[in-house]
Amino acid sequence: MGSRHIPVMVEEVMTFLRCEPGHTYVDATLAGGGHATEMLKRSAPNGMLIGLEWDEEALSEARKTLTPFGDRVKLFRENFIRLPDLLKAESADGILLDLGLSSIQLENEERGFSFKGDGPLDMRMDQRVRETAADLVNTLSSEEMESILSQYGEERWAKRIVRAIVQEREREPIRTTQALRKIIHRSVPRRFHSRRIDPATRTFQALRIRVNEELENLKKILETGWELLRKGGRMCVISFHSLEDRMVKETFRSLEKQGKMVILTKKPVTPSEEEEKRNPRSRSAKLRCAERI
Ligand SMILES: C[S@@+](CC[C@H](N)C(=O)[O-])C[C@H]1O[C@@H](n2cnc3c(N)ncnc32)[C@H](O)[C@@H]1O
Repeated sequence: MGSRHIPVMVEEVMTFLRCEPGHTYVDATLAGGGHATEMLKRSAPNGMLIGLEWDEEALSEARKTLTPFGDRVKLFRENFIRLPDLLKAESADGILLDLGLSSIQLENEERGFSFKGDGPLDMRMDQRVRETAADLVNTLSSEEMESILSQYGEERWAKRIVRAIVQEREREPIRTTQALRKIIHRSVPRRFHSRRIDPATRTFQALRIRVNEELENLKKILETGWELLRKGGRMCVISFHSLEDRMVKETFRSLEKQGKMVILTKKPVTPSEEEEKRNPRSRSAKLRCAERI
């Protein structure tokens, strides 16, 4: 079992969501249930929470955390792109998407997200997904791999890294996080190894995004999610890297132009200095919010 996840920008999210009794809120990315707990407290005594999480381990943690709220909570082990089917005719007063990984996933070496420890090169957030990061690394063509690393990792050394991966996998399949990290370290020229950011960071990010189809899923929910809100209902999205943030910004802008939503955050909201100190993982978080009109 991994460690507990510290939710990011809780006060900021709650200010936008304005949770009220009797209303219905969706937490589409529950993880440990931190934001969900606040939504339920602030919409007591009878606000409802619909919670989605596709990771079995995280969902079981959320289930425990949210037990005290009894039948005010409905939980689903689902990809959030299925939200329109799950809500059926109901509509929501607020939807939260807090993207990316939780500490529950990141700190469990067996899940293969982190190069800090050693574990199987897995990276599936939902264990029902078919392909692991190892499957991709050992089977994709050089062209495909290079395009993933460039596009999702914005990795300038993509060509070199992929060449080294292909050489290595001809000798023996790449199965672990450390095996991949070593290959990346060897292929990025020494003088470009930064002390602050491990040279493997971008490749790991790129593979994780591809394994979990993170950008495709985000695009789908942004394009359909606004319809699930009541008039005046709000959608908050917390993203953790520029590819996600750009997609949120652009989709909100397009929905605003079409007269479907109004943007409430002209610039993204970021964590306070105090929060960044207390929770260094919050550093790259950006919050955007829009309201249905
Ligand atoms: C940053 S954590 C959320 C933390 C949470 N807000 C809290 O308060 O603890 C992101 C979670 O979203 C889940 N997730 C990511 N993409 C998802 C998707 N497409 N469908 C369902 N859950 C998803 C991940 O498994 C992870 O547990």
